Amino acid sequence: MMKITVEKLIYGGKGIGKIDEKVCFVPYVLPEEEVEVDIIREKKSFYECVPVQIIKTSPYRKEPVCRYFTYCGGCDYLHIDYEKQVEYKNEIFVETLKRVGKLDNIPVLEPVSSPENLYYRNRAQFKIRGEKIGFFKKESREIVNIDYCYLLKKELNDALSGLREILPFFSFQPVEAQVYSSSENRTVVKFLFPKNIKKVPLGLKHMKAFLGESLEGFGMYLIKDGYARRINFVGSPFVYETVGDYRFRVSADSFFQVNRFQVKNLIDLVENEMKKDSISVAFDLYSGVGTFSIPMGRYAQKVFGVEINPYAVQDANHNRKLNKATNVFFHRASASDINRFMIKKNPELVLLDPPRTGIDSNTLKALLQIKNLRKIIYISCNPATLARDLSKLTENGFTVVSTRFIDMFPHTYHIESLTILEK
Ligand SMILES: C[S@@+](CC[C@H](N)C(=O)[O-])C[C@H]1O[C@@H](n2cnc3c(N)ncnc32)[C@H](O)[C@@H]1O
Repeated sequence: MMKITVEKLIYGGKGIGKIDEKVCFVPYVLPEEEVEVDIIREKKSFYECVPVQIIKTSPYRKEPVCRYFTYCGGCDYLHIDYEKQVEYKNEIFVETLKRVGKLDNIPVLEPVSSPENLYYRNRAQFKIRGEKIGFFKKESREIVNIDYCYLLKKELNDALSGLREILPFFSFQPVEAQVYSSSENRTVVKFLFPKNIKKVPLGLKHMKAFLGESLEGFGMYLIKDGYARRINFVGSPFVYETVGDYRFRVSADSFFQVNRFQVKNLIDLVENEMKKDSISVAFDLYSGVGTFSIPMGRYAQKVFGVEINPYAVQDANHNRKLNKATNVFFHRASASDINRFMIKKNPELVLLDPPRTGIDSNTLKALLQIKNLRKIIYISCNPATLARDLSKLTENGFTVVSTRFIDMFPHTYHIESLTILEK
C-alpha cells in the first residue's frame, strides 16, 4: 500500500497524485486529501490506483447519498459537496482550455450551477442482462443491478421498477431500455435488441399497466455497431417539453437536453446574446428539435437550423409551427455538407452545439469563409474538443469574448459550456 497526497481533480473524474515522482490516478478522492492507495495497474508513465483509506479528509467530503456509489459507473462526485464540485469542475474546464487550446487569458464568467443537483435527468439508459438492470460499472461492461438512481426524476425510477416486472414477459430479452420522461411527465421507452425482433412482447395497454399511464408509446430497436435502428413503434413516439413560453415536440429518437432544470438557463443565455445585436441571418448548426433555433428566431430576421437526424428535423419542423416561428427554417444535412449554402446565406451569427467530437474541419473552413460572420455562440459538452476548435478559430481572426461552465451533469465529470467568439 502506498500513500499519496491528491494534487487536483482532472477531466474524467479522477484525482492525481505522485508515487516516487510518477503520476498516479485515483478515483473518488478530493484535492489535498492524503490517501492510502493500492496500485491496480502500472504503465510506463503512470499508475492506476484505487483508494483504500482516507488518512486526511477534505472538509468538502460528504457522505454519498447513494449506496451504489463507487460500484455504479454513473457518478463520479457524489462524495463532494455540490458547490465545491462546481468549483473543481470549473478549474478543470479552465485548465483544459489552457492546456489543450493554449487559451491563457480568456475571460471566464461565473459558472452556472444546476438549480437542483439531484433528480435532474429526464432520460435514462438502463442496461439489461439476465436479472440485472442498471448501469455499467466504471470502465467495464459489467452491469451494476440498481433499484434506484438519485440523478433520475421520479418517473424514471418508477419506470425502472416497472421494467423489472415486465422483462419476464419478453421471449427475447432486450440489452437496454431507454426511458425518456418529458417536463410534461409523458414517457416513451425504447427497447434495444441485438437481433431483429418482429414480435411485440405486449400491447400498449399492458405495457402501461407496468410502466404507468404516462406512457405514450414504446419501440423495438435493433442495435448494431452502436447505432439503434427503429424496427417498429407501438403508440405515439412523441412527447412534449414546455420551457418558459416555448413548447417542443421531441420524438423518442431525437436529442433533448438531459438536465430538466438547466434547459431554460441555456435558452436564456442564448437569448441574451441574441438581443445584443441586430441580426438579419443566423445559423444554428446541430439544431436538434429547434431548442435554440426557435428562440433565436425572436431576435433575428431569419434563422436556419441544420441537423443530421431525420426524426429531429421532423420534430423541428413541427415545432416551428407550434411556436409560430415562421422565420425559422430547418435543413436535414450534416453540418459539414452545408458549406456552400451557409456561405451564400452569409449569416452574421452562427450557434454551434455539436456532439462530443466537436466541429469537423469542413465546418470550420466554412465558418472562416462567411463574410458577414461576426459572432459565434459555441455550446460544448466536451472541453477538450472545444479547446481544439477555439484554438483554430482564434488563430483565424476570432476572439473569445467570454466562456463559462454550465453544470448540466451534477455529480458526474461531464462539462457543458457556452463560449462567445467575435470577429
Ligand atoms: C448536443 S445535440 C444538440 C441539439 C440541440 N442544439 C439541442 O440543444 O437540443 C447535437 C445534435 O447534433 C446532431 N448531429 C450530430 N452530428 C451532426 C452533423 N454532422 N451535422 C448536423 N447535426 C449533427 C445530433 O443529431 C444532435 O441532435
